[in-house]
Amino acid sequence: MTPPPAHSPVAGRQRVRPFLRRLLQLYVGLVLFGVSIALMVQAGLGLDPWDVFHQGLAERSGLRFGWVVIGVSALVLILWFPLRQHPGIGTVSNVVVVGLAVDASLAALPEPREIPLRIAFLVTGILANGVATGLYIGAGLGPGPRDGLMTGLAARGHSIRLARTAIELSVLAAGWLLGGTVGAGTVLYAVSIGPLAHYFIPRFTPKPTDGLTDREYLPTMPRLHVIITSTRPGRVGPRVAEWFAERAENHGGFAVEVVDLADVNLPFLDEPHHPSERRYVHQHTRDWSATVDAADAFVFVMPEYNQGFNAPLKNALDYLYHEWQYKPVGFVSYGMTSAGLRAVQMIKPVMTTLKMMPVTEAVSVPLRQRLDSDGRLRPDRVMEASATVLLDELQQLTPVLATLRKTTGAPAR
Ligand SMILES: Cc1cc2nc3c(=O)[nH]c(=O)nc-3n(C[C@H](O)[C@H](O)[C@H](O)COP(=O)(O)O)c2cc1C
Repeated sequence: MTPPPAHSPVAGRQRVRPFLRRLLQLYVGLVLFGVSIALMVQAGLGLDPWDVFHQGLAERSGLRFGWVVIGVSALVLILWFPLRQHPGIGTVSNVVVVGLAVDASLAALPEPREIPLRIAFLVTGILANGVATGLYIGAGLGPGPRDGLMTGLAARGHSIRLARTAIELSVLAAGWLLGGTVGAGTVLYAVSIGPLAHYFIPRFTPKPTDGLTDREYLPTMPRLHVIITSTRPGRVGPRVAEWFAERAENHGGFAVEVVDLADVNLPFLDEPHHPSERRYVHQHTRDWSATVDAADAFVFVMPEYNQGFNAPLKNALDYLYHEWQYKPVGFVSYGMTSAGLRAVQMIKPVMTTLKMMPVTEAVSVPLRQRLDSDGRLRPDRVMEASATVLLDELQQLTPVLATLRKTTGAPAR
């Protein structure tokens, strides 16, 4: 049997197995998360803010730690409703599984006295916490109740950094007043969990189009499609795209997927109806529609041909209408004389007609300087820096436009 196209977000009958794999990843992550908390508790050197709070409440109420975790999770989940966040399987599982895993691990783990062993417990706990965060968030089946509180506030226009800091500090202060353990571990956790989550979440995030329906896939990271627009044999495009996609993965703000127009292989537009009607008669159009629908943001890796954009790009744009709307667009252009800048300027009016939202920040690659004699790409510091600025800008715009798509009822997914 021919496998479904790599770019198809819903791989039909092959959908079930990836879902089970993600479910397994979710539960391994949640159990490990519980174990990691127990390790930090037994180390006795200070906990992360939420667990200081849980521990303080457990001590005051006489309830078991795990039950307090479950109770607080359930209460935080109630706050999701005014914030209009939607819980997934991962969210509901989080409420129950983490608490049970904490209690089971606390019963099984010793409480070391010697300082080196306590430090070992703490460091292992924090590392395991980072891996567990990557696993359960990367599963894409819904974030934890506490994560959703942050993303909910961010979606309502508050800065994610400010929202997160305010929540963490309030919870820490409350937990400390209740008698939870604040110590060196709290500081170590505070400085390391960000980088750990940044490293592990993208590594455990399967490709967004890896065989899930949109109902099953509740990404905590927006989906960025890096689209290779040149299609000719021997093209430079994939080399540039590969470099940029790696930067995007490391950036940590997106679930990144490379989409190659050569693989998509669209004929010249052959649909009888205007794309705005969404009455597609060809399977290749339906596949392309699903691919574009699945994206929250785009980066076009595009060459300059005859001082303009290339034909496959224009053709691919013309095929669809609603699927493109209100999504941010970045450009990584390349060319011989003008680093592809003229092509970018020319495609922008086409894209704004489709209500796509091009950002000013861009990467421009002058091929004469940046390809070596073997045809390998040699990125310089300007390219690296402009890639980061472009990704930062896309990351700012993506949630805002996602909200706009929801509120305007743009007929997307
Ligand atoms: C049909 C064609 C037209 C081109 N026109 C331009 C141009 O106007 N300006 C420019 O800087 N480079 C131009 N080039 C050179 C391309 O920038 C260079 O070949 C690049 O590698 C093309 O991208 P690709 O390899 O991904 O197809 C042209 C290349 C082709 C094939």
